[in-house]
Amino acid sequence: MSSDPWQVIIVGASGDLTRRKLIPALSRLAAKGKPQAGFSVLGVSRRAKTDEQFRAEMAEAMPDDLREGFDALAPRLFYEPADTQKPEDLQRVKARLAAMPGGAEAGKVFYLALKPSLFAPAVEQLASVALLPGHPKRRRVVIEKPFGHDLGSAQHLNEALHRILREEQLYRIDHYLGKETVQNLLGFRFHNAIFEPLWNRHHVELIQVTVAEHLGVEHGRAAYYDTTGAVRDMLQNHMLQVLALATMEPPSSLDPEEVRDQKVALLKSLRTPHAEDIAQQSVRARYAAGAVRGEDVIGYLDEEGVPDGSTTETYVALRAQIDSWRWSGVPILLRHGKRLPKKMTEVKVQFRTPPLQLFNQPAGMSQGEYQRKLRDGDLCQIRPNVLTLSIQPREAISLSFGVKAPGGDMVMTPAQLSFDYKDHFGQGGADAYERLLLDAMIGDPTLFLRADEIEASWRFADDVLGMWQTHDVPITTYPAGSWGPSEADALFEGCEGGWSIG
Ligand code: BG6
Repeated sequence: MSSDPWQVIIVGASGDLTRRKLIPALSRLAAKGKPQAGFSVLGVSRRAKTDEQFRAEMAEAMPDDLREGFDALAPRLFYEPADTQKPEDLQRVKARLAAMPGGAEAGKVFYLALKPSLFAPAVEQLASVALLPGHPKRRRVVIEKPFGHDLGSAQHLNEALHRILREEQLYRIDHYLGKETVQNLLGFRFHNAIFEPLWNRHHVELIQVTVAEHLGVEHGRAAYYDTTGAVRDMLQNHMLQVLALATMEPPSSLDPEEVRDQKVALLKSLRTPHAEDIAQQSVRARYAAGAVRGEDVIGYLDEEGVPDGSTTETYVALRAQIDSWRWSGVPILLRHGKRLPKKMTEVKVQFRTPPLQLFNQPAGMSQGEYQRKLRDGDLCQIRPNVLTLSIQPREAISLSFGVKAPGGDMVMTPAQLSFDYKDHFGQGGADAYERLLLDAMIGDPTLFLRADEIEASWRFADDVLGMWQTHDVPITTYPAGSWGPSEADALFEGCEGGWSIG
Protein backbone atom coordinates (compact mmCIF):
# COMPACT_ATOMS: atom_id res chain seq x y z
CA MET A 1 0.00 0.00 0.00
CA SER A 2 1.20 3.53 -0.73
CA SER A 3 1.11 4.41 2.98
CA ASP A 4 3.67 1.67 3.68
CA PRO A 5 7.18 2.90 4.34
CA TRP A 6 9.93 2.74 1.75
CA GLN A 7 13.34 1.20 1.89
CA VAL A 8 16.12 2.84 -0.09
CA ILE A 9 18.94 0.42 -0.78
CA ILE A 10 22.15 2.09 -1.92
CA VAL A 11 24.09 -0.56 -3.79
CA GLY A 12 27.70 0.62 -3.92
CA ALA A 13 27.43 2.64 -0.71
CA SER A 14 31.18 3.04 -0.17
CA GLY A 15 31.52 5.41 -3.10
CA ASP A 16 31.83 9.13 -3.05
CA LEU A 17 28.30 9.69 -4.36
CA THR A 18 26.74 8.20 -1.22
CA ARG A 19 28.62 10.50 1.12
CA ARG A 20 28.54 13.64 -1.02
CA LYS A 21 25.04 13.49 -2.49
CA LEU A 22 22.75 10.64 -1.48
CA ILE A 23 22.94 10.68 2.31
CA PRO A 24 22.78 14.52 2.45
CA ALA A 25 19.71 14.42 0.16
CA LEU A 26 18.08 11.70 2.27
CA SER A 27 18.85 13.72 5.41
CA ARG A 28 17.02 16.69 3.92
CA LEU A 29 14.04 14.49 3.17
CA ALA A 30 14.13 13.05 6.69
CA ALA A 31 14.17 16.58 8.14
CA LYS A 32 11.10 17.49 6.08
CA GLY A 33 9.29 14.27 6.91
CA LYS A 34 9.06 13.27 3.23
CA PRO A 35 7.71 11.08 1.82
CA GLN A 36 4.82 10.93 4.23
CA ALA A 37 5.02 7.15 4.46
CA GLY A 38 8.59 7.43 5.79
CA PHE A 39 11.66 5.51 4.71
CA SER A 40 14.74 3.74 5.94
CA VAL A 41 18.08 3.28 4.19
CA LEU A 42 20.37 0.31 3.78
CA GLY A 43 23.91 0.88 2.51
CA VAL A 44 25.33 -2.14 0.73
CA SER A 45 28.90 -2.59 -0.44
CA ARG A 46 31.68 -5.13 -0.20
CA ARG A 47 33.55 -3.40 2.62
CA ALA A 48 32.97 -4.87 6.04
CA LYS A 49 31.56 -2.34 8.49
CA THR A 50 28.85 -2.11 11.09
CA ASP A 51 25.81 0.15 11.11
CA GLU A 52 27.58 2.33 13.66
CA GLN A 53 30.70 2.65 11.56
CA PHE A 54 28.66 3.51 8.47
CA ARG A 55 26.68 6.13 10.39
CA ALA A 56 29.89 7.62 11.81
CA GLU A 57 31.46 7.85 8.33
CA MET A 58 28.37 9.55 6.94
CA ALA A 59 28.09 11.89 9.94
CA GLU A 60 31.67 13.00 9.44
CA ALA A 61 30.97 14.01 5.83
CA MET A 62 27.77 15.89 6.72
CA PRO A 63 27.82 19.70 6.34
CA ASP A 64 26.80 21.61 9.47
CA ASP A 65 23.46 22.74 8.09
CA LEU A 66 22.41 19.12 7.63
CA ARG A 67 23.23 17.91 11.15
CA GLU A 68 19.63 18.04 12.27
CA GLY A 69 18.39 16.19 9.18
CA PHE A 70 21.10 13.59 9.59
CA ASP A 71 20.14 13.07 13.23
CA ALA A 72 16.59 12.34 12.04
CA LEU A 73 17.89 9.88 9.46
CA ALA A 74 20.58 8.11 11.51
CA PRO A 75 18.31 5.74 13.49
CA ARG A 76 16.89 4.55 10.14
CA LEU A 77 20.28 4.16 8.46
CA PHE A 78 21.72 0.65 8.26
CA TYR A 79 24.56 -1.13 6.53
CA GLU A 80 25.10 -4.65 5.22
CA PRO A 81 28.38 -5.80 3.69
CA ALA A 82 27.66 -7.78 0.52
CA ASP A 83 29.01 -8.55 -2.90
CA THR A 84 26.13 -8.13 -5.34
CA GLN A 85 27.53 -10.96 -7.44
CA LYS A 86 27.15 -13.48 -4.61
CA PRO A 87 23.59 -14.80 -4.12
CA GLU A 88 24.40 -15.88 -0.54
CA ASP A 89 25.37 -12.27 0.28
CA LEU A 90 22.16 -11.03 -1.27
CA GLN A 91 20.16 -13.48 0.82
CA ARG A 92 21.62 -11.70 3.86
CA VAL A 93 20.62 -8.35 2.36
CA LYS A 94 17.12 -9.74 1.90
CA ALA A 95 16.94 -10.91 5.51
CA ARG A 96 18.21 -7.54 6.68
CA LEU A 97 15.52 -5.71 4.70
CA ALA A 98 12.88 -7.99 6.15
CA ALA A 99 14.01 -6.91 9.64
CA MET A 100 14.05 -3.18 8.81
CA PRO A 101 11.00 -0.86 9.18
CA GLY A 102 8.31 -1.95 6.74
CA GLY A 103 9.85 -5.42 6.44
CA ALA A 104 9.76 -7.60 3.34
CA GLU A 105 6.58 -5.93 2.09
CA ALA A 106 8.01 -2.39 2.13
CA GLY A 107 8.39 -0.65 -1.22
CA LYS A 108 11.99 -0.80 -2.35
CA VAL A 109 14.12 1.64 -4.31
CA PHE A 110 17.46 0.10 -5.31
CA TYR A 111 19.90 2.89 -6.09
CA LEU A 112 22.72 1.44 -8.18
CA ALA A 113 25.75 3.60 -7.41
CA LEU A 114 27.96 1.10 -9.19
CA LYS A 115 30.39 0.84 -12.08
CA PRO A 116 28.27 0.81 -15.27
CA SER A 117 29.49 -2.68 -16.14
CA LEU A 118 27.76 -3.92 -12.96
CA PHE A 119 24.30 -2.41 -13.62
CA ALA A 120 22.86 -5.40 -15.48
CA PRO A 121 24.62 -8.11 -13.41
CA ALA A 122 23.46 -6.48 -10.17
CA VAL A 123 19.86 -6.36 -11.37
CA GLU A 124 20.07 -10.00 -12.45
CA GLN A 125 21.38 -11.05 -9.04
CA LEU A 126 18.81 -8.99 -7.13
CA ALA A 127 16.13 -10.68 -9.22
CA SER A 128 17.64 -14.12 -8.59
CA VAL A 129 17.01 -13.77 -4.84
CA ALA A 130 13.49 -12.47 -5.54
CA LEU A 131 14.19 -8.94 -4.37
CA LEU A 132 13.02 -7.33 -7.59
CA PRO A 133 10.06 -8.85 -9.40
CA GLY A 134 6.83 -9.61 -7.62
CA HIS A 135 5.55 -6.10 -6.93
CA PRO A 136 6.42 -4.06 -10.04
CA LYS A 137 4.80 -0.96 -8.61
CA ARG A 138 6.77 -1.16 -5.37
CA ARG A 139 10.16 -2.24 -6.73
CA ARG A 140 12.18 0.41 -8.51
CA VAL A 141 15.75 0.63 -9.69
CA VAL A 142 17.57 3.94 -9.99
CA ILE A 143 20.50 3.88 -12.39
CA GLU A 144 23.26 6.46 -12.33
CA LYS A 145 24.97 7.72 -15.44
CA PRO A 146 26.75 6.80 -17.63
CA PHE A 147 23.98 4.75 -19.19
CA GLY A 148 26.04 3.07 -21.90
CA HIS A 149 29.08 4.29 -23.73
CA ASP A 150 27.42 4.63 -27.11
CA LEU A 151 24.12 3.75 -28.77
CA GLY A 152 24.93 0.05 -29.09
CA SER A 153 25.91 -0.41 -25.44
CA ALA A 154 22.91 1.64 -24.24
CA GLN A 155 20.57 -0.56 -26.31
CA HIS A 156 22.27 -3.64 -24.98
CA LEU A 157 21.87 -2.43 -21.39
CA ASN A 158 18.22 -1.52 -21.99
CA GLU A 159 17.58 -5.01 -23.36
CA ALA A 160 19.32 -6.67 -20.40
CA LEU A 161 17.31 -4.59 -17.90
CA HIS A 162 14.04 -5.11 -19.76
CA ARG A 163 14.48 -8.87 -19.50
CA ILE A 164 13.89 -8.46 -15.76
CA LEU A 165 12.18 -5.15 -15.18
CA ARG A 166 9.36 -3.24 -16.75
CA GLU A 167 10.27 0.16 -18.15
CA GLU A 168 8.16 1.84 -15.44
CA GLN A 169 10.40 0.29 -12.79
CA LEU A 170 13.52 1.91 -14.27
CA TYR A 171 14.57 5.34 -13.09
CA ARG A 172 17.58 6.48 -15.14
CA ILE A 173 19.04 9.54 -13.48
CA ASP A 174 20.24 12.72 -15.08
CA HIS A 175 20.85 14.92 -12.07
CA TYR A 176 20.42 18.08 -14.16
CA LEU A 177 16.70 17.30 -14.32
CA GLY A 178 16.61 17.53 -10.53
CA LYS A 179 17.80 21.14 -10.66
CA GLU A 180 15.03 23.63 -9.94
CA THR A 181 16.06 25.97 -12.76
CA VAL A 182 16.08 23.13 -15.29
CA GLN A 183 12.53 22.19 -14.28
CA ASN A 184 11.64 25.85 -14.52
CA LEU A 185 12.38 25.72 -18.25
CA LEU A 186 9.07 23.89 -18.53
CA GLY A 187 7.26 26.15 -16.07
CA PHE A 188 8.56 29.34 -17.62
CA ARG A 189 7.73 28.30 -21.17
CA PHE A 190 4.33 26.72 -20.66
CA HIS A 191 2.87 28.85 -17.90
CA ASN A 192 3.67 32.21 -19.45
CA ALA A 193 1.73 32.55 -22.66
CA ILE A 194 3.57 35.66 -23.87
CA PHE A 195 6.75 33.79 -24.87
CA GLU A 196 5.21 30.90 -26.78
CA PRO A 197 4.20 32.92 -29.89
CA LEU A 198 7.82 34.10 -30.16
CA TRP A 199 9.41 30.71 -29.50
CA ASN A 200 10.10 29.73 -33.09
CA ARG A 201 12.12 30.38 -36.24
CA HIS A 202 10.11 33.49 -37.12
CA HIS A 203 11.28 35.36 -34.06
CA VAL A 204 14.32 33.53 -32.73
CA GLU A 205 17.59 34.05 -34.56
CA LEU A 206 19.85 31.74 -32.56
CA ILE A 207 19.96 29.67 -29.39
CA GLN A 208 23.10 28.97 -27.42
CA VAL A 209 23.54 26.56 -24.54
CA THR A 210 26.67 26.73 -22.39
CA VAL A 211 27.69 24.35 -19.65
CA ALA A 212 31.02 25.67 -18.40
CA GLU A 213 33.02 24.26 -15.52
CA HIS A 214 36.10 25.66 -13.83
CA LEU A 215 37.01 22.22 -12.48
CA GLY A 216 39.25 19.87 -14.42
CA VAL A 217 39.61 16.15 -13.82
CA GLU A 218 41.45 16.32 -10.51
CA HIS A 219 40.81 14.04 -7.49
CA GLY A 220 41.60 10.81 -9.35
CA ARG A 221 38.87 11.25 -11.98
CA ALA A 222 41.21 11.39 -14.96
CA ALA A 223 41.46 7.65 -15.65
CA TYR A 224 37.66 7.38 -15.89
CA TYR A 225 37.27 10.66 -17.75
CA ASP A 226 39.84 9.73 -20.34
CA THR A 227 37.62 6.88 -21.54
CA THR A 228 34.67 9.26 -21.72
CA GLY A 229 35.43 12.83 -22.82
CA ALA A 230 33.26 15.93 -23.00
CA VAL A 231 30.75 14.61 -25.57
CA ARG A 232 29.88 11.48 -23.60
CA ASP A 233 30.26 13.00 -20.14
CA MET A 234 28.14 16.14 -20.59
CA LEU A 235 26.81 16.73 -24.11
CA GLN A 236 24.99 13.42 -24.57
CA ASN A 237 23.10 13.78 -21.30
CA HIS A 238 22.94 17.04 -19.33
CA MET A 239 23.27 19.44 -22.25
CA LEU A 240 20.79 17.66 -24.49
CA GLN A 241 18.31 17.48 -21.63
CA VAL A 242 18.55 21.22 -21.07
CA LEU A 243 18.22 21.84 -24.80
CA ALA A 244 15.24 19.47 -25.09
CA LEU A 245 13.33 21.26 -22.32
CA ALA A 246 14.10 24.64 -23.84
CA THR A 247 12.97 23.72 -27.35
CA MET A 248 10.45 20.84 -27.21
CA GLU A 249 6.79 21.20 -28.16
CA PRO A 250 4.31 21.84 -25.33
CA PRO A 251 3.00 18.61 -23.80
CA SER A 252 -0.76 18.34 -23.49
CA SER A 253 -0.45 17.50 -19.78
CA LEU A 254 2.22 16.93 -17.17
CA ASP A 255 1.75 13.22 -17.42
CA PRO A 256 5.30 11.76 -17.33
CA GLU A 257 4.85 10.00 -20.66
CA GLU A 258 3.50 13.12 -22.38
CA VAL A 259 6.46 15.18 -21.23
CA ARG A 260 8.95 12.50 -22.18
CA ASP A 261 7.29 11.92 -25.57
CA GLN A 262 7.91 15.56 -26.42
CA LYS A 263 11.53 15.41 -25.30
CA VAL A 264 12.11 12.29 -27.39
CA ALA A 265 10.50 13.92 -30.44
CA LEU A 266 12.81 16.89 -30.06
CA LEU A 267 15.92 14.75 -29.60
CA LYS A 268 15.01 12.75 -32.68
CA SER A 269 14.82 15.92 -34.76
CA LEU A 270 18.18 17.25 -33.56
CA ARG A 271 20.85 17.22 -36.29
CA THR A 272 24.61 17.45 -36.09
CA PRO A 273 26.44 19.57 -38.69
CA HIS A 274 26.66 17.85 -42.08
CA ALA A 275 29.66 15.57 -42.49
CA GLU A 276 31.30 17.93 -45.00
CA ASP A 277 30.98 20.84 -42.53
CA ILE A 278 31.97 18.99 -39.38
CA ALA A 279 35.50 20.42 -39.25
CA GLN A 280 34.18 24.00 -39.55
CA GLN A 281 31.05 23.61 -37.47
CA SER A 282 32.41 21.77 -34.46
CA VAL A 283 35.41 22.13 -32.19
CA ARG A 284 37.09 19.50 -30.08
CA ALA A 285 39.79 20.59 -27.70
CA ARG A 286 41.58 19.86 -24.44
CA TYR A 287 42.95 22.20 -21.83
CA ALA A 288 46.64 23.02 -21.57
CA ALA A 289 48.30 24.45 -18.44
CA GLY A 290 46.96 27.81 -17.35
CA ALA A 291 45.42 29.63 -14.41
CA VAL A 292 41.88 29.18 -13.17
CA ARG A 293 40.44 31.63 -10.65
CA GLY A 294 43.93 32.89 -9.84
CA GLU A 295 45.54 29.47 -9.37
CA ASP A 296 48.05 27.84 -11.69
CA VAL A 297 46.84 24.47 -12.94
CA ILE A 298 48.41 21.76 -15.05
CA GLY A 299 47.27 20.72 -18.51
CA TYR A 300 45.01 17.73 -19.16
CA LEU A 301 47.79 15.53 -20.51
CA ASP A 302 49.74 16.00 -17.25
CA GLU A 303 46.83 15.02 -14.99
CA GLU A 304 47.51 11.86 -13.06
CA GLY A 305 45.89 8.89 -14.79
CA VAL A 306 45.75 10.34 -18.31
CA PRO A 307 47.59 7.93 -20.61
CA ASP A 308 50.32 9.14 -22.97
CA GLY A 309 48.97 9.99 -26.37
CA SER A 310 45.44 10.61 -25.09
CA THR A 311 43.18 12.31 -27.63
CA THR A 312 40.22 12.75 -25.27
CA GLU A 313 38.43 16.08 -25.56
CA THR A 314 37.67 18.21 -22.49
CA TYR A 315 35.84 20.79 -24.59
CA VAL A 316 33.22 20.54 -27.29
CA ALA A 317 31.38 23.22 -29.23
CA LEU A 318 29.16 22.71 -32.21
CA ARG A 319 26.54 24.25 -34.41
CA ALA A 320 23.53 21.97 -34.57
CA GLN A 321 20.07 22.25 -36.12
CA ILE A 322 16.60 21.09 -35.20
CA ASP A 323 14.66 19.77 -38.16
CA SER A 324 11.17 20.87 -37.24
CA TRP A 325 8.70 23.45 -38.47
CA ARG A 326 9.33 25.40 -35.28
CA TRP A 327 13.12 25.53 -35.43
CA SER A 328 14.25 24.82 -38.97
CA GLY A 329 17.15 27.12 -39.88
CA VAL A 330 17.76 28.39 -36.32
CA PRO A 331 21.38 27.68 -35.35
CA ILE A 332 21.66 25.78 -32.08
CA LEU A 333 25.09 26.42 -30.60
CA LEU A 334 26.20 24.04 -27.89
CA ARG A 335 29.35 24.45 -25.81
CA HIS A 336 30.81 22.62 -22.85
CA GLY A 337 34.29 22.63 -21.40
CA LYS A 338 36.28 21.84 -18.30
CA ARG A 339 38.78 24.32 -16.87
CA LEU A 340 36.96 27.34 -18.25
CA PRO A 341 37.04 30.56 -16.22
CA LYS A 342 33.97 29.73 -14.14
CA LYS A 343 31.05 27.42 -13.55
CA MET A 344 28.07 28.55 -15.59
CA THR A 345 25.11 26.79 -17.16
CA GLU A 346 22.94 28.98 -19.29
CA VAL A 347 20.51 29.03 -22.21
CA LYS A 348 20.42 32.18 -24.33
CA VAL A 349 17.62 32.79 -26.77
CA GLN A 350 18.52 35.56 -29.18
CA PHE A 351 15.57 37.20 -30.92
CA ARG A 352 15.61 38.65 -34.40
CA THR A 353 16.16 42.35 -35.01
CA PRO A 354 13.43 44.69 -36.25
CA PRO A 355 13.09 44.66 -40.04
CA LEU A 356 14.19 48.28 -40.26
CA GLN A 357 16.89 49.73 -38.04
CA LEU A 358 15.88 53.29 -37.24
CA PHE A 359 18.31 54.08 -34.47
CA ASN A 360 22.00 54.43 -33.67
CA GLN A 361 22.94 55.51 -37.17
CA PRO A 362 26.66 56.48 -37.07
CA ALA A 363 27.21 60.23 -37.21
CA GLY A 364 27.88 61.45 -40.73
CA MET A 365 26.41 58.34 -42.43
CA SER A 366 23.33 58.77 -44.59
CA GLN A 367 20.22 56.68 -43.85
CA GLY A 368 20.57 54.98 -47.26
CA GLU A 369 24.20 54.02 -46.66
CA TYR A 370 23.38 52.85 -43.14
CA GLN A 371 20.61 50.52 -44.36
CA ARG A 372 22.79 49.18 -47.18
CA LYS A 373 25.71 48.41 -44.85
CA LEU A 374 23.40 46.65 -42.42
CA ARG A 375 21.86 44.61 -45.23
CA ASP A 376 25.25 43.61 -46.65
CA GLY A 377 26.58 42.68 -43.21
CA ASP A 378 29.27 45.41 -43.31
CA LEU A 379 27.71 46.77 -40.15
CA CYS A 380 26.05 44.63 -37.52
CA GLN A 381 22.72 45.61 -36.10
CA ILE A 382 22.59 45.38 -32.33
CA ARG A 383 20.56 42.38 -31.10
CA PRO A 384 18.58 44.09 -28.33
CA ASN A 385 16.37 41.20 -27.28
CA VAL A 386 18.06 38.26 -25.62
CA LEU A 387 16.41 36.05 -23.05
CA THR A 388 18.93 34.46 -20.71
CA LEU A 389 17.90 31.49 -18.61
CA SER A 390 20.70 31.13 -16.05
CA ILE A 391 20.61 27.66 -14.59
CA GLN A 392 23.61 27.61 -12.25
CA PRO A 393 25.29 28.77 -10.14
CA ARG A 394 23.29 31.96 -10.68
CA GLU A 395 19.64 30.98 -10.82
CA ALA A 396 18.01 33.75 -12.76
CA ILE A 397 16.14 34.89 -15.84
CA SER A 398 16.84 38.11 -17.65
CA LEU A 399 15.48 39.77 -20.74
CA SER A 400 17.47 42.48 -22.44
CA PHE A 401 15.94 45.25 -24.52
CA GLY A 402 16.87 48.68 -25.82
CA VAL A 403 15.81 51.97 -24.23
CA LYS A 404 16.31 55.51 -25.34
CA ALA A 405 19.17 57.14 -23.49
CA PRO A 406 18.17 60.55 -22.09
CA GLY A 407 19.19 63.42 -24.32
CA GLY A 408 18.36 65.17 -27.54
CA ASP A 409 19.38 62.29 -29.84
CA MET A 410 17.52 59.04 -30.41
CA VAL A 411 20.24 56.81 -29.06
CA MET A 412 19.17 53.39 -27.84
CA THR A 413 21.13 51.67 -25.10
CA PRO A 414 20.79 48.18 -23.58
CA ALA A 415 18.68 47.59 -20.47
CA GLN A 416 17.50 44.47 -18.63
CA LEU A 417 14.54 43.00 -16.81
CA SER A 418 15.86 40.50 -14.29
CA PHE A 419 14.57 37.90 -11.90
CA ASP A 420 16.80 36.07 -9.42
CA TYR A 421 15.65 33.05 -7.42
CA LYS A 422 17.56 34.01 -4.29
CA ASP A 423 16.38 37.62 -4.30
CA HIS A 424 12.80 36.55 -4.90
CA PHE A 425 12.46 33.48 -2.72
CA GLY A 426 15.26 34.16 -0.23
CA GLN A 427 16.78 30.82 -1.20
CA GLY A 428 18.05 28.95 -4.20
CA GLY A 429 16.60 25.80 -5.70
CA ALA A 430 16.35 22.55 -3.74
CA ASP A 431 19.09 19.97 -4.09
CA ALA A 432 18.75 17.88 -7.27
CA TYR A 433 19.21 14.51 -5.56
CA GLU A 434 16.66 15.35 -2.88
CA ARG A 435 14.01 15.92 -5.53
CA LEU A 436 14.98 12.87 -7.58
CA LEU A 437 15.12 10.47 -4.63
CA LEU A 438 11.73 11.62 -3.47
CA ASP A 439 10.30 11.18 -6.98
CA ALA A 440 11.70 7.66 -7.14
CA MET A 441 9.94 6.85 -3.85
CA ILE A 442 6.62 8.41 -4.79
CA GLY A 443 6.80 6.88 -8.26
CA ASP A 444 7.00 9.95 -10.49
CA PRO A 445 9.30 9.21 -13.45
CA THR A 446 8.87 12.59 -15.21
CA LEU A 447 12.41 13.70 -14.35
CA PHE A 448 14.03 10.39 -15.27
CA LEU A 449 15.11 9.25 -18.70
CA ARG A 450 13.15 6.74 -20.69
CA ALA A 451 14.88 4.07 -22.79
CA ASP A 452 14.06 5.74 -26.12
CA GLU A 453 15.25 9.11 -24.82
CA ILE A 454 18.65 7.75 -23.87
CA GLU A 455 18.95 6.07 -27.25
CA ALA A 456 17.99 9.23 -29.19
CA SER A 457 20.66 11.20 -27.27
CA TRP A 458 23.30 8.58 -27.98
CA ARG A 459 22.46 8.67 -31.69
CA PHE A 460 23.36 12.37 -31.73
CA ALA A 461 26.53 11.94 -29.65
CA ASP A 462 27.67 8.95 -31.70
CA ASP A 463 27.18 10.94 -34.92
CA VAL A 464 29.44 13.71 -33.64
CA LEU A 465 32.13 11.33 -32.41
CA GLY A 466 31.91 9.20 -35.56
CA MET A 467 32.33 12.20 -37.84
CA TRP A 468 35.26 13.51 -35.83
CA GLN A 469 36.92 10.19 -36.38
CA THR A 470 36.14 9.65 -40.05
CA HIS A 471 36.97 13.24 -40.95
CA ASP A 472 40.10 13.40 -38.79
CA VAL A 473 38.92 16.53 -37.01
CA PRO A 474 42.02 17.63 -35.11
CA ILE A 475 42.00 18.22 -31.37
CA THR A 476 43.07 21.76 -30.48
CA THR A 477 44.12 23.15 -27.12
CA TYR A 478 43.07 26.06 -24.97
CA PRO A 479 44.80 27.45 -21.89
CA ALA A 480 43.05 26.41 -18.67
CA GLY A 481 41.14 29.45 -17.42
CA SER A 482 40.29 30.72 -20.93
CA TRP A 483 36.89 30.43 -22.61
CA GLY A 484 38.17 27.75 -24.95
CA PRO A 485 39.80 27.77 -28.37
CA SER A 486 39.24 30.75 -30.65
CA GLU A 487 38.02 28.33 -33.37
CA ALA A 488 34.73 28.14 -31.45
CA ASP A 489 34.03 31.81 -32.24
CA ALA A 490 33.83 30.89 -35.91
CA LEU A 491 30.72 28.79 -35.20
CA PHE A 492 28.87 32.11 -35.21
CA GLU A 493 28.48 33.57 -38.65
CA GLY A 494 28.39 37.20 -39.76
CA CYS A 495 26.50 39.36 -37.32
CA GLU A 496 25.13 36.56 -35.15
CA GLY A 497 27.15 37.64 -32.11
CA GLY A 498 29.35 35.51 -29.90
CA TRP A 499 29.51 33.18 -26.93
CA SER A 500 28.18 34.33 -23.63
CA ILE A 501 30.64 34.81 -20.80
CA GLY A 502 27.89 35.08 -18.21
C1 BG6 B 1 28.66 14.87 -14.05
C2 BG6 B 1 29.90 14.78 -14.90
O1 BG6 B 1 27.63 14.13 -14.62
O2 BG6 B 1 28.26 16.24 -13.96
C3 BG6 B 1 31.02 15.62 -14.33
O3 BG6 B 1 30.32 13.43 -14.96
C4 BG6 B 1 30.55 17.05 -14.15
O4 BG6 B 1 32.17 15.60 -15.16
C5 BG6 B 1 29.23 17.08 -13.36
O5 BG6 B 1 31.55 17.76 -13.44
C6 BG6 B 1 28.67 18.48 -13.35
O6 BG6 B 1 27.55 18.53 -12.50
P1 BG6 B 1 27.10 19.90 -11.82
O7 BG6 B 1 25.82 19.60 -11.16
O8 BG6 B 1 28.21 20.27 -10.86
O9 BG6 B 1 27.01 20.91 -12.91
